[in-house]
Amino acid sequence: MIIAGNWKMYRGPDPRALVGLDAIVCPPFTSLRECVQAGLTTYAQNVHWESEGAYTGEVSAPMLLELGVTGSLVGHSERRQYFCETDETVAKRARAALDAGLNVIACVGETLAERESGETENVLRRQLAVLEPHARLVLAYEPVWAIGTGLTATPEMAQAAHAFIKSLLDAPVLYGGSVKPDNAEGLLGQPDVDGALVGGASLDVDSFKAICETAARIPS
Ligand code: PGA
Repeated sequence: MIIAGNWKMYRGPDPRALVGLDAIVCPPFTSLRECVQAGLTTYAQNVHWESEGAYTGEVSAPMLLELGVTGSLVGHSERRQYFCETDETVAKRARAALDAGLNVIACVGETLAERESGETENVLRRQLAVLEPHARLVLAYEPVWAIGTGLTATPEMAQAAHAFIKSLLDAPVLYGGSVKPDNAEGLLGQPDVDGALVGGASLDVDSFKAICETAARIPS
């Protein structure tokens, strides 16, 4: 089971409170060093595809590795929604990060309108078509309508999407979208759910710990 906490543009808990937890933390860039120094498995929330150059505001894979960061998210729906991220730029980021030696969690998922119009599988097929299997590639299925909304896919919905994703690309698949201590067991208990990408609930030490403890009880 892989549990990753996505702190988004929040400060997050004191990294020292998380020492010993079997989890990944994805803090904002400004907290990466502090998390690495506390001994946490630390991933960035994004990574650029070039190793250096005139790309104001971007951070490259070699820069992250130099800090002791071991992986990065790519293609989070908030990047796709607000920052013009496309399937092609997600693919470029993932490829460059993997080539440089980082682990990658690539996020996919449909919007509410896409789900309601029966487009979920087509969207996932399109988002996955640009990615190739890799030993260090993990996917995160994050239905956009469940992110930060308190709405969660039912365990059955998550299982169906994860099984579909795995039929297209051989990689572990995390579920993300309003994972909380009280729904973690049902979601993580599904055979094709290999972990969770946790946003809001990772900002609170106790709820993040509770999710990690639930994950530890579930045989992988
Ligand atoms: P949430 O966020 O748990 O707050 O819904 C998940 C994510 O965006 O990764």
